[in-house]
Amino acid sequence: MKNYLKHDEWCIIEEGFNREFNEITESVCSLGNGRMGQRGNFEETFTGKTLQGNYVAGVYYPDKTRVGWWKNGYPEYFAKVLNAANWIGINVEIEDETLDLNICEVHEFRRVLNMKEGYLERSFVAALPGGKQVKIFAKRLNSIVDDESGAIHYAITPLNFDGKITLTPYIDGDIKNKDANYDEKFWDEVQKETAFAEGYIEMETKKTGFHVVTGQKFEIFQNGTLANFQSLPIKKEKYVGSQVTLEARSGEEIVLIKYAVNLSSENHTKEDLLPNAKAYLKRIAAKGFDLILKEQAEKWASKWQVNDIVIEGDVAAQQGIRFNIFQLNQTYTGEDARLNIGPKGFTGEKYGGSTYWDTEAYCIPFYLATADQQVSRNLLIYRWKQLGKAIENAEKLGFRNGAALYPMVTMNGEECHNEWEITFEEIHRNGAIAYAIYDYINYTGDEAYLAEYGIEVLLGIARFWAQRVNWSEYRKQYVMLGVTGPNEYENNVNNNWYTNYIAVWCLKYLIESAEKVKASDPGRYAELLALTNLNEEEEFAHFQHIIDNMYFPESKELGVFLQQDGFLDKELTLVKDLPESDRPINQKWSWDRILRSCFIKQADVLQGIYFFEDDFDLETLRRNYDFYEPRTVHESSLSPCVHSILAAKLGDKARSYEFYHRSARLDIDDYNNDTEDGCHITSMAGTWMSIIKGFGGMRIKNGKIHLSPFVPENWQSFSFKIRFRTNTLNIKTTAQEVIIENLAGDALSVNVYGDEVQIKSGEIVTVNQKTLVLA
Ligand code: BGC
Repeated sequence: MKNYLKHDEWCIIEEGFNREFNEITESVCSLGNGRMGQRGNFEETFTGKTLQGNYVAGVYYPDKTRVGWWKNGYPEYFAKVLNAANWIGINVEIEDETLDLNICEVHEFRRVLNMKEGYLERSFVAALPGGKQVKIFAKRLNSIVDDESGAIHYAITPLNFDGKITLTPYIDGDIKNKDANYDEKFWDEVQKETAFAEGYIEMETKKTGFHVVTGQKFEIFQNGTLANFQSLPIKKEKYVGSQVTLEARSGEEIVLIKYAVNLSSENHTKEDLLPNAKAYLKRIAAKGFDLILKEQAEKWASKWQVNDIVIEGDVAAQQGIRFNIFQLNQTYTGEDARLNIGPKGFTGEKYGGSTYWDTEAYCIPFYLATADQQVSRNLLIYRWKQLGKAIENAEKLGFRNGAALYPMVTMNGEECHNEWEITFEEIHRNGAIAYAIYDYINYTGDEAYLAEYGIEVLLGIARFWAQRVNWSEYRKQYVMLGVTGPNEYENNVNNNWYTNYIAVWCLKYLIESAEKVKASDPGRYAELLALTNLNEEEEFAHFQHIIDNMYFPESKELGVFLQQDGFLDKELTLVKDLPESDRPINQKWSWDRILRSCFIKQADVLQGIYFFEDDFDLETLRRNYDFYEPRTVHESSLSPCVHSILAAKLGDKARSYEFYHRSARLDIDDYNNDTEDGCHITSMAGTWMSIIKGFGGMRIKNGKIHLSPFVPENWQSFSFKIRFRTNTLNIKTTAQEVIIENLAGDALSVNVYGDEVQIKSGEIVTVNQKTLVLA
């Protein structure tokens, strides 16, 4: 864990240049607008530790699978999030020296990510090896108003000399992915063009044929006035730049304003790309940097208006939640239904693909409560559109009759993941996709979704489970062999309790949903029977037989569900007894040792109890929590948030807070020693859930909001806004009371600590704080 970034309510602040942590700071300071984004890299040359990263949404490369030993059923490729043309580059030459913080003495360094207004700022004084000193101030943004563009204000002031300064703003398309299976480059150049203080490069991805035009246009101000300058075009392979040499005088500031655009063939025809890029660039350059910055701040203000969570009395916690909400908004805006939420967003290449079970299990609740209903609906439809591919995917593995296995990792519906223990075995992901349909309908009341789309997905998933289980003559029950549960620290286990539980739940939910559709829309139901070739009587009877006869491993003696058949054979030690030097175990231990240990990566049995909490009483939760949590290392970012919510339910405020804190500050403090590759975007929605579902105790039951909030020890209050159906509420909890404001929508009834509270439109209702004290 690191502690070098300053605590601040609205900003991430690095004071003094922490070279050794530069890649971590780059991840944390990433900028994005849902359409494009990049890491917090420097504009000028930097030969020190850095991970360059620029990304364009939806643009990927199918990197041929690389494995030691090919197994039938492996996917052909792993879709790589593509590192794209670097548009932020500005090379700075001072007389004959290059400005490079790796070889300069650096003073007064400050890097600030301003989350309130959505920009990244950096300032420092650099003493070059030859003794010349310059002051730099750089500010840049990825516009959320014009989301195919960005802009940079780059100011340089000589401090102790008069002389020549050469600035070369450029676009470099000669980019290599750090994550490339065969060490290849994924981009070919199509064309490039330069004009005075302007340049364009069109690149094309190998195999997938995506085209991206990146353009730049710049202006220079010297001592406050627009400068006249000569610009020397530089064209190299996959590179365009313009070199400008200026006579600089000590104490006089030179400002270069660079506007850039990134247009992809996902949104423009290939023929239109270049002309559209030129027009786009002209339009944003005409706005000027100050207006772009102002519009950015205004649009962020409107986002914060609906998304912000305000915490009084704990700056670190406040910074944490705002950072999480900020990054989620930078990653996915919900405006383009073709996109999804990659675990690293625009902050790194790791993980590839864009869609994991993370979207359904963790992100949907965030979008349900903070965005238009259409956003989460689109996320569900994304999977509905990929049903055909999920059926093909299952067929490749030997399943039949419309059984669907959704991929572990995907860009377009095809499986990308190629480790057998995950691709073939981590099948619980199918359950989360069905659960999200339930979650969405429960939250929104949009029952029509079932008939229109949901039921087809549920049927494909149910058919998969029905074929994936087998009858055990020995147990006289159904079992599920050879799986990997959410805990990836054990593979190929039999009867993972969570997977068995969610599989049976999917079968029940399908039967229940089919009955609903049959009753509400018989015409559509008949259509579905034909479309899916459903032999209702026979198939449903089989599903029901599985529901009635599934085996769930359990220890009656310990009073806990067993993560899998062999869990109790393990040496049952505790995380607290692990030496600190052994952690994180995934970086310190051999994989073999991890697999045989009892240490759990992330919530597994507890993930099931969290999803299906109404099926279990509090004592069951407590016993399982007390057994599993002390053996959980939380080395998946998705882990602490679930534990925070469960601890809250158990009345353990301190642990709930501790897990919240860990989740919220995971990247800011580099908790798991893995932020340098990028931030953990999907778990950020989990952080949000820790507050809403954990501290706020919010649940939706029978179309009604239920709340049972408490304030963590060191907070004075916290408040959050939620959208629920036609209402928007602001819910503030202090140590004394819960204050609910019905900001928009009709009167509604909210259940607070078990009592019904009527809140008229526009009204504010105060309820006494009544935290349930659980023994
Ligand atoms: C977790 C998975 C998750 C993936 C992407 C892995 O470390 O174990 O559950 O889907 O990261 O976030």
